[in-house]
Amino acid sequence: MPKKLTEILQIKYPIIQAPMFLVSNTEMVIAAMNEGIAGCIPALNYRTLEELKQAIMELKSAKPKGGSFGFNLIVNKSNIKYKNQLDILCKEGCDFIITSLGSPEETIRRAHEVGIKVFCDVVDLKYAKKVEALGADALIAVNNEAGGHRGELSPKELITELVTNCKIAVISAGGVSSKADVDRMLSYGAAGVSVGSPFIASEEAGVTDEYKQACVDYGAEDIVVTERISGTPCTVINTPYVQKVGTRSTWIERVLNKNKILKKWIKMLRFSIGMAATKKAATEVTYKTVWVAGPSIKNTNAILPVKEIIKKLIS
Ligand SMILES: Cc1cc2nc3c(=O)[nH]c(=O)nc-3n(C[C@H](O)[C@H](O)[C@H](O)COP(=O)(O)O)c2cc1C
Repeated sequence: MPKKLTEILQIKYPIIQAPMFLVSNTEMVIAAMNEGIAGCIPALNYRTLEELKQAIMELKSAKPKGGSFGFNLIVNKSNIKYKNQLDILCKEGCDFIITSLGSPEETIRRAHEVGIKVFCDVVDLKYAKKVEALGADALIAVNNEAGGHRGELSPKELITELVTNCKIAVISAGGVSSKADVDRMLSYGAAGVSVGSPFIASEEAGVTDEYKQACVDYGAEDIVVTERISGTPCTVINTPYVQKVGTRSTWIERVLNKNKILKKWIKMLRFSIGMAATKKAATEVTYKTVWVAGPSIKNTNAILPVKEIIKKLIS
């Protein structure tokens, strides 16, 4: 039997506050740790390596007994800072790393040398088997209810398939906004859950009040998948701007994507343009509102402190 998330991270509740680009920050993670869940921040939220180092030091000094924090690393070529970020995480220390988009081989090897656990984002069994063979400590099973780059399988299909065929723990990501949702994922065999979108409308989140309020005003039925942010399908709130520009990539991108040589470069270019557009929408008031969120904003009725959002997940 794989271990439960509470045992793996030595935390009170089997929940990770998921890494969210530009949304997650140290205030959120400290609040999460104080309530008995783990918290995670994308390393890319820090413009410089010095800022990343400062964040680790802040978390280390604020970490309560039984607290656990980690960072998300994008491990493919689109993240030009990957190697340096991995160096800092291994040198300064954290409890776990969540890898996404690419091979986690080097991250697993280096992190294990210094006692950091590695959980890998997966959307299917094939990739799960690969990262399990590389020595991952757990799978982050990203399902078709997740915010951001979601998977294709339902929570039940994905968890069941992974639990049946893999030996390591399965942490379910996507579609959790209440204690009943947590219990449902655990009943399918998950060792824990990773929760993102419900924390966007938190007092601590580092985004504009307009973005937070949108998560209150819009609901699950307003979430659409767009190819226009990073080239990879991503869930966003269907604001008038999103409706105006549409959700399919442009015809020119589609044509270029068919070209084997150009495909890789177009993807990298789209990724960096997408990151810049998301940053603008998250941190500035602009009519070009491309707000990333998933259907699990359905229970978001007010902008609340992280502590209150966690209460909904545990009681
Ligand atoms: C606004 C937003 C930004 C995200 N950014 C990242 C990211 O930078 N790295 C990553 O691995 N996952 C990212 N995710 C996915 C989350 O880590 C998590 O898998 C997802 O939020 C789970 O689904 P939920 O939103 O229904 O809880 C993001 C999700 C959202 C909603």
